[in-house]
Amino acid sequence: MTFQLLKLRKSLLFIAAFLLASLNTTATKRDSLALTPPMGFMTWNKYKEDINEQLIRQIADKMAADGYAEAGYKYIFIDDGWQGGRDKRNNILPDPKKFPSGMKALADYVHSKGLLLGIYSDAAHLTCAGYTASYKFEEQDAKTFAQWGIDYLKYDYCHAPSDSAVAHKRYKKMADALQKSGRKIALGVCEWGQLNPELWARQAGGSLWRVSYDVRDMWKDIVKQGGMGIIDIIDITEPLYKYAGPGHWLDMDMLVVGLDGKGGPSSDLGGVGCTYSEYQTQMSMWCMFASPLAMSHDILNENEATRHILLNKEIIAINQDALGEAAHRIDFPGACRIYLRQLSGNRQALAIINPSNTPQPVQLPLSIIGNAKEYSFRDVWEHKTTRQHKAWQGTLQPHETKVFTITTQ
Ligand code: GLA
Repeated sequence: MTFQLLKLRKSLLFIAAFLLASLNTTATKRDSLALTPPMGFMTWNKYKEDINEQLIRQIADKMAADGYAEAGYKYIFIDDGWQGGRDKRNNILPDPKKFPSGMKALADYVHSKGLLLGIYSDAAHLTCAGYTASYKFEEQDAKTFAQWGIDYLKYDYCHAPSDSAVAHKRYKKMADALQKSGRKIALGVCEWGQLNPELWARQAGGSLWRVSYDVRDMWKDIVKQGGMGIIDIIDITEPLYKYAGPGHWLDMDMLVVGLDGKGGPSSDLGGVGCTYSEYQTQMSMWCMFASPLAMSHDILNENEATRHILLNKEIIAINQDALGEAAHRIDFPGACRIYLRQLSGNRQALAIINPSNTPQPVQLPLSIIGNAKEYSFRDVWEHKTTRQHKAWQGTLQPHETKVFTITTQ
């Protein structure tokens, strides 16, 4: 090899090492913005564009006073429909009819309740619902969001090119702008899992990325109308488990728990509502896969069954476990599926789902968990602990999920 070639090779290696190092630094720096999956309330599925400051204040009051903030639901994520165009200097504005006091006053109010405020934009000129978006205004908008006191940005991908290199670039542009704003603002990548975001969203500076098209309030898309049911999203997420970890999460989209098929976008495309067993399965598996938890039901008029699911501290503790592992599926014969997740403190979480339409007896050999003689099984839905030897036996109702935290003590 000539001296010239050697020199070129050395410079290329140097550039590659530098790029790798800077990619890692970007990811690490922004990883700290969401070390456990973000939890909160997202406006879209229930309220669509029908949002305003009064509503957000009421939701903040409710979350602060009624157990949600205490359980870990810290964010109010304002979704599409808040925007009111730009002023003469191109500063993005909230709709003056919906948010007459402005976003800064609203963020101050939300913060005064011990909560955080998220907002929404899109990596193109317009959002999915046709409002002003942030493409080509990334730095200016990030600065505005920071001045308002925003803590999180859901960044959508409607009207943008279907190309993963372009998507990576557009999300990185926004993440860099948020970083430069000086405020800690986490970035939610919302590209619906179509351009392999698991390969670039974290490097771009995203704290999480959507893995699927929009969730609908249904178990399964049997009518093939293009909606995503609970079990459909579980199927999509399952092979991606290795990509989740502290600061970079698989976003399985909003919880439909308690929506009861009552209108809103999640009731389109066959979203007729679910049984409470199905809602419990959604909560169980969103926690097993360490997905962000964004509630979207009628939180101001909710029922006890909904609260029972959303406020179960034992299942939330699995979601928020510091190891940040997503569950993996274990080979198991029969109709039911088995998922395991390592937890901190030498504990494991085990989920058994019955995806079939009939009750299913299960006999689960404990050898799939390890080789101890005895295990303690804490049923996180029944709140009961039993000691198990050799095998766990039980029956699961259609679409039911059982979840246990398991220790050897
Ligand atoms: C897309 C997103 C939804 C919601 C709407 C708003 O469909 O995936 O979650 O934000 O846009 O227009």
